[in-house]
Amino acid sequence: MKSEFVIKIKNLKQQFGKCTVLDNINMNVQKGEILGILGPSGSGKTTLIKDIVGMQKPTNGSVTVLDAEMPSLAVVSSIGYMSQADALYEDLSAYDNLMFFAAMYGLNGKKAQNRADEVLSLVMLKEHKKKLVKNFSGGMKRRLSLAIALIHEPKILILDEPTVGIDPVLRREFWNEFENLKKKGAAIIVTTHVMDEAEHCDRLTLIRYGSIIAEGTPEDIKKSSGENSIEGAFLYFGTIGKEGKV
Ligand SMILES: Nc1ncnc2c1ncn2[C@@H]1O[C@H](COP(=O)(O)OP(=O)(O)OP(=O)(O)O)[C@@H](O)[C@H]1O
Ligand SMILES: [Mg+2]
Repeated sequence: MKSEFVIKIKNLKQQFGKCTVLDNINMNVQKGEILGILGPSGSGKTTLIKDIVGMQKPTNGSVTVLDAEMPSLAVVSSIGYMSQADALYEDLSAYDNLMFFAAMYGLNGKKAQNRADEVLSLVMLKEHKKKLVKNFSGGMKRRLSLAIALIHEPKILILDEPTVGIDPVLRREFWNEFENLKKKGAAIIVTTHVMDEAEHCDRLTLIRYGSIIAEGTPEDIKKSSGENSIEGAFLYFGTIGKEGKV
């Protein structure tokens, strides 16, 4: 039977100079699954995300997305990526930003316009579509970044702290949309510091000092730490020497 794993990470190591930021990372993500990556600031989450989307090459080991070893141009159009730092054209309007990225993914004309309107509605920015991005608030930029990540209806979504600066109502909308995309078969990786969001993931991977220290469903993680909340488990595994492969 063909593997349903659409993202495969094997023995990944990432060094910058003499500094090892990630070591011995192994993980897989299936279609129709949301994987949450948790870990303290500086633990290596964004570095891992950049290896997955092919922005940098691992020092050792491999990342395979849809059977292509990353970095690979062949799968770029199947990946929606929302970086931790918004990568937007400040002197263009929200709509023009979307049309630019749509064109990069081969979407043009009426199809691109309709899709741009759809994703703008989704992130509740339709009434601001003509506004220049440099006049956007922080949360509005985050919302536009998500719209851009979704414009080409990717099968793989990689979201690095997508809800920073987003109010609770809209955060719930974002998560409803992630659930919808998951139901349609997308594979989603999301990093977050929001423990309530971690509860919505199918599986969690906890990273500390560049290594995986615990993995499993939110229930498994709570059980193995003896805590009744993900926050409690996060604090438990944050203590030196505790490991929880569940
Ligand atoms: N290109 C680079 N060159 C040197 N060091 C780097 C580089 N990229 C990341 N690092 C280092 O790798 C470590 C992990 O950084 P990373 O951005 O992956 O953390 P993070 O888990 O995403 O943190 P946060 O929760 O604050 O976003 C940090 O010490 C960072 O300084
Ligand atoms: Mg980060």
